[in-house]
Amino acid sequence: MASGQPRRRSIYVCQRCEAQTPRWLGRCPECGEWNSLLETAEPRPETAGPVVTNGANPIPVALGEIVLQDRPRIKTSIDELDRVLGGGIVNGSVVLLGGDPGIGKSTLALQVAAALPIQNQQILYVSGEESTGQILMRARRTASSAANILALSETSLDRLLPQVKQIQPGLLIVDSIQAVYLESLSSAAGSTSQVRECAMALLRLAKECLIPTLIIGHVTKEGAIAGPRALEHIVDVVLYLEGERFHSYRLLRGVKNRFGSTNEVGVFEMLGDGLKEVENPSHVFLAERPAGAVGSTVAVTVEGTRPMLVEVQALATYSPLAIPRRTVNGADVNRVQLVTAVLTKRVGLALANQDIYVNIVGGLHVDEPAADLAVALAIASSFRDRPVAGDLVAIGEIGLAGELRRVSHMDRRLTEASKLGFSRCILPKGAISGSSAPANLELLPCGTLVEALEAAWRIP
Ligand code: TYD
Ligand code: MG
Repeated sequence: MASGQPRRRSIYVCQRCEAQTPRWLGRCPECGEWNSLLETAEPRPETAGPVVTNGANPIPVALGEIVLQDRPRIKTSIDELDRVLGGGIVNGSVVLLGGDPGIGKSTLALQVAAALPIQNQQILYVSGEESTGQILMRARRTASSAANILALSETSLDRLLPQVKQIQPGLLIVDSIQAVYLESLSSAAGSTSQVRECAMALLRLAKECLIPTLIIGHVTKEGAIAGPRALEHIVDVVLYLEGERFHSYRLLRGVKNRFGSTNEVGVFEMLGDGLKEVENPSHVFLAERPAGAVGSTVAVTVEGTRPMLVEVQALATYSPLAIPRRTVNGADVNRVQLVTAVLTKRVGLALANQDIYVNIVGGLHVDEPAADLAVALAIASSFRDRPVAGDLVAIGEIGLAGELRRVSHMDRRLTEASKLGFSRCILPKGAISGSSAPANLELLPCGTLVEALEAAWRIP
């Protein structure tokens, strides 16, 4: 046998459940997935160990004696993004920007690169998916100033890392983590092991050279697993860009943030010239509302800590089907079914032979139970063919007994409703003490869904 460095053995890692086997098998012994084992170099022992800083072993420190140093943040000049980041990108941190393909991640990253006010330092935009020409075309389209941006089309991290060390960019953007690879691993780019090892390598680089890094990751469709989820525990901040394919609104949501809260969302609109910040989402979501139309109500939802008013539309029509349709867009189907069942049983609406369609206008997805009441009012309004007042908002969760239940952030919701010119609000009894409600909003507290409907019909 040859002497010297021991050869690194290969192991086979399931791309679904990450089980390891010493040899290749057609089917994973753990999760039963077929053809999911990929050859991977066995990790070097030293990479698996705990983090050791500068050779000195960390010692325990009394929490009370630690002097907090504020880590400098770089404001991105995109307020909606800074809000989600908690005030800007922390130096040396790694931010993962995930989302469906085509949702606008590259666009946002490029806009960040163009807007970032860094002096004397360049921003390195590495794309493994597009040529430098394509990056320039996108920059032109979004009218971004490309002066500070260095573009690089590269997929090999082994070639990239030394370049980054040399350039010392003020921000490194890697688009996307699924497109880059390390030569030491034999599995293909985009596999779980590549994605994870590449992210680790970028993380080490970020911490070592204090380069803030933005990694883009595609959320892969079911079945392929090497998506951003596999990286959430490695990186410092995880943001997801969400939205409906055929709508122009995008929500930027913080899922994890080691340097701030995850309760914030940013709202953008995808236009012909890039993503535009939406400062007042409620205005936008209600812009086309036919106030006082049959089957249309307004719900107040809270995304993170941010209240937003959205229009709920419902249509109930006679169904020739044995099992009538329940078609829901932008809300949770199960909640709509629950609301329908309560309307049938507790209010006595004969919905059993009705097709019911519910739509949240604008492409927002509202899962919150707080929207139950607005959904119920919209369905009842369509079924009875009777409009609900245009200046009314409805807030409340509906219980199976037909009772209205309280929801969180009530004062914030009411303030937003009043700010947007609504003058009445149906809400659960006892949800708020009279003093903290906005003065120009008439509160109509109701204990049950039946009462709420009566209150809504009473308004002329
Ligand atoms: P992109 O940023 O490439 O998405 P991702 O990186 O998440 O895959 O953007 C994809 C879509 O956005 C594409 O279908 C075109 C559209 N788009 C606009 O509508 N306006 C623009 O200014 C740009 C750059 C893209
Ligand atoms: Mg892209």
